[in-house]
Amino acid sequence: MNQAAALSPLTARRSGVLTGRARVPGDKSISLRSLIVGALAVGETRITGMLEGEDAISTANAMAALGATVERTGDRAWRIVGVGVGGFAEPRGPLDFGNSGTGCRLSMGAVAGCPIVATFDGDASLRTRPMRRILDPLEKMGARTRDQMEGGRLPLTMQGAVDPMPIVYEPPVASAQIKSAVLLAGLAAPGTTVVIEKEASRDHTEKMLKHFGASLRIETLGEQGRRITLHGQPELEAAAVVVPADPSSAAFPMVAALIVPGSELVLEGVMTNPLRAGLLATLKEMGAAIELLETRNEGGEDVADLRVRGGPLKAVEVPAERAPTMIDEYPILAVAAAFAEGTTRMRGLKELRVKESDRLAATLALLKGNGVAVEIEDDDLIVHGKGRAAGGGVVATHMDHRIAMSALVMGMASENPVAVDDAAFIATSFPGFAELMRSLGADLS
Ligand code: S3P
Repeated sequence: MNQAAALSPLTARRSGVLTGRARVPGDKSISLRSLIVGALAVGETRITGMLEGEDAISTANAMAALGATVERTGDRAWRIVGVGVGGFAEPRGPLDFGNSGTGCRLSMGAVAGCPIVATFDGDASLRTRPMRRILDPLEKMGARTRDQMEGGRLPLTMQGAVDPMPIVYEPPVASAQIKSAVLLAGLAAPGTTVVIEKEASRDHTEKMLKHFGASLRIETLGEQGRRITLHGQPELEAAAVVVPADPSSAAFPMVAALIVPGSELVLEGVMTNPLRAGLLATLKEMGAAIELLETRNEGGEDVADLRVRGGPLKAVEVPAERAPTMIDEYPILAVAAAFAEGTTRMRGLKELRVKESDRLAATLALLKGNGVAVEIEDDDLIVHGKGRAAGGGVVATHMDHRIAMSALVMGMASENPVAVDDAAFIATSFPGFAELMRSLGADLS
């Protein structure tokens, strides 16, 4: 198909106040893990509140190709019958993960512990992303890879380990994906697999494995670090999973309400796991009026209804240590920073270079193209906020859902409309984004 013909542009115009209540889709990290861990468990796992975005669908298809039974039973309700740890069947064709780095990398971990050959592939964005960081530990555990492009890029073929070996691994970067791949491979290894994190990353894999009956010990190391010890070859037993609303998706209507004066929204059931709550902390430091209402626990995670009210924001410094708790939120934080008064510096953003796009470059271009003064210094992003933005730009989204949504939120409060060249990738993580924002009062067409 002609790529240009498939583009779906979208424009956001300055809107009146945003008001109402909404629930954003299910958390992507938890949805993907529930599919993969459900596929490795014995028995029937029922998932409710699942993200029905393209990243989850491609991961669901991969689990089916590996031998699990995967069925949609209703609105955001899914049923998986798993094959047991180490029990994946050899897929007949390549596993296509589309745009999903998380689905692909976690599945590589799960496959690495099974004696099968599988080929991993994805779209043009996923084909640019580094896989060496995942393959290095998995090869230490006994997996072999071949046909790989430079840097371990996709497409690649993996021969899973016949006798997986447990390892002690310290990932070179703070990454929940690396940690999770090692733990999922470690399920099939005898003895204990250990991951040592200098800075704690999201802990959904640990929580989910425990929920399915695996034995894991989590110790804190210093101020920020963790040591996770997994006892291998557990009998994973199917369990019900309730997926809370995704804080990384809630970030978009949240910032929209903050920068469109007079707005007031309630976002329901948003997960407030502290390892995902860096944006909330940062926005509060900026003076944002965000209240946590009805705090409760759903499916093992803390959730709250977030009441967000528009109002002035002030610039802040965001320390590098906070990055793992808000790694996906920097593009939308940069938009909030443009509407704040003063210079916001976000430190230590090297990892943004290897997301669905080079997000550091894409965020810089997004702001510059809409009249905001912005610069990159080493790995820091510096935004000179003026409390307003001219807008008027057409933003290149580079197959990146979060760049597209950030640009559109900017357009809701800019003096001139902001357009994106392609809104199609929003469906990877936030199907129904445009409809939900319109229902709150946004002007998107
Ligand atoms: C994710 C981890 C993060 C994040 C991604 C989801 C996960 O990636 O950017 O969107 O679910 O484990 P890294 O682990 O590579 O930082």
